[in-house]
Amino acid sequence: MLASEIRKIRKIRAEDLDKISKIVMEVFPEDCNIIIRYIRYIYAFVRDHSYIVEINNELVGFSINSVEYGRGHVMYLAVKSNYRRRGIGKALLCVSLIHFFHQLDLSEVFLEVQTENIPAIKLYESLGFRIVRRIPRYYVDGSDCYVMIIDRGTFDNVCEKICMRLLNNYDLHEVGSLFSKSSRHDYYLSN
Ligand SMILES: CC(C)(COP(=O)(O)OP(=O)(O)OC[C@H]1O[C@@H](n2cnc3c(N)ncnc32)[C@H](O)[C@@H]1OP(=O)(O)O)[C@@H](O)C(=O)NCCC(=O)NCCS
Repeated sequence: MLASEIRKIRKIRAEDLDKISKIVMEVFPEDCNIIIRYIRYIYAFVRDHSYIVEINNELVGFSINSVEYGRGHVMYLAVKSNYRRRGIGKALLCVSLIHFFHQLDLSEVFLEVQTENIPAIKLYESLGFRIVRRIPRYYVDGSDCYVMIIDRGTFDNVCEKICMRLLNNYDLHEVGSLFSKSSRHDYYLSN
């Protein structure tokens, strides 16, 4: 991260959808039309759980999240290619996990990831997700996915500190209320 950058994480807004669509076109070119339509369709259901990252006011990454049957679901996570390997994907995942575990008090978060998607799998493993299942032909192109999960205990023991350190680099002003339910997270509000 460059010292001069203004890095911000906030909840998704309706006016972000066009910018998110552009990132989807870049990142998932083959399925982009379906994904863009789907994200617009579910927007009302996911907006309270989904986040974007802005660097100097440019939207560079997003995480579309939902709650399904009492479990957190990270549905889509993407970072613009020229902003990768700078901790942005991890920061988005951290905010999402804090939201699910500490704001909503859920006990488990899951996601699906293509079995060949090594960058994403490494990212998820770096925060304590583990593979629990492989689903054959999960994606439209016939490829398989892994289902990965993280539970509340793993988050609290393994990655909460990592997240706190990482998020220290971000303006979290607009997600401050995220942390207000638990005094453990006053840390974020004071930074
Ligand atoms: C997966 C993705 C979101 C990661 O975003 P990112 O901002 O580059 O990730 P980070 O910089 O936060 O990486 C955190 C960790 O993940 C792992 N990682 C990320 N990219 C990696 C790569 N290309 N190869 C190996 N490990 C990688 C590393 O452990 C990394 O930590 P390190 O940089 O200290 O080694 C990004 O590559 C992306 O948008 N990919 C296309 C969309 C996608 O596949 N999304 C996931 C499925 S929906």
